[in-house]
Amino acid sequence: MSKAESTSVVCANSKYIERAAEILLAGGLVAFPTETVYGLGALATDDQAISRLFSAKGRPAEHPVIVHIGSVDGLEGWGRSITQSAYDLAEAFWPGPLTLVVSRSPGVSDKVTGGQDTVGVRVPSHPVAQDLLRSVGEAIAAPSANRFGRISPTLAQHVFEDLDGKIDLILDSGASKLGLESTIIDVRGPRPRLLRPGLISAEDVIGVLGTRPLPYDGATTRAPGLLARHYAPNTPARLLSREEILMLEKGSRGLGVLSRENSRTRFLGDWRVMPQDPINYGEQLYANLRNLDREGIVEILIENVPDEAAWAAIYDRLARATRR
Ligand code: TXA
Ligand code: MG
Repeated sequence: MSKAESTSVVCANSKYIERAAEILLAGGLVAFPTETVYGLGALATDDQAISRLFSAKGRPAEHPVIVHIGSVDGLEGWGRSITQSAYDLAEAFWPGPLTLVVSRSPGVSDKVTGGQDTVGVRVPSHPVAQDLLRSVGEAIAAPSANRFGRISPTLAQHVFEDLDGKIDLILDSGASKLGLESTIIDVRGPRPRLLRPGLISAEDVIGVLGTRPLPYDGATTRAPGLLARHYAPNTPARLLSREEILMLEKGSRGLGVLSRENSRTRFLGDWRVMPQDPINYGEQLYANLRNLDREGIVEILIENVPDEAAWAAIYDRLARATRR
């Protein structure tokens, strides 16, 4: 498509899923819904399409992309020496919000792996993602459908804001159900390593494998983008306690707040009350950050979340969003 052309946002019905599959098979780029966030898809075996995908996102080439497959049967085509724990986790959580990092098969392109010896693979559960994979009949490489470093999209509108004119089609299927990216686990070694927390928690992994996954250490597995400031609004953001936020009330004009309570008294900025439970909080987080970004707010103050396992994925994203 030419640069000047606007990208169509279409309802993700069977007609447009077919159309999307044709575009992908012809080397194009299509954004599609998954249960976590919207992904930006390219055919996983098409190096040229993946290069276009990276430039549409403004993403550095050495970053690996997740390969989306229709079922666990596809895993062996992408990975080699697959461990029993990989199979056990796949059986427990696929289709679902879990990415497994495995040793790559010899044929897997450097474009997909970022030049590493591993590949991240996931079976998404969203019915549109499943239908699209079935129609394409091949794996789809898909990072989140946002500009590099920005917040992942949980609505088709978010994709349009970031990538209009740069991609071929956006399949719209409403708000993402989970709203946070998949849990990523490196399952190569004797003991799995949690690279990115998500809705599937360390406790869930213990429930299946009987052992706690190791934490991400940056040395054993290189996962570009996982440590840096990422998933961040353009507006500066800080993570504070509720007391610290209330102390700032006097100079509060122009501030945005994400708090789990409506405890403001003289607050003059945009105070948003977030859900008390982590599931709904996670679903709404990115849309709220994007809204605050649009409103000319000078700083976003985010109330810290409980130091509990159920909040681990949210804490992880808030820490990244507020890292300077
Ligand atoms: O929920 C999700 O995972 C979404 C949906 C679209 O599936 N995708 C997603 O992709 O969040 P992306 O590219 O935005 O984030 C994937 C992260 C990146 O930080 C990348 O470095 C890491 O996964 N990753 C991918 N393949 C990897 C590999 N082989 N080894 C280590 N990290 C990997
Ligand atoms: Mg991303």
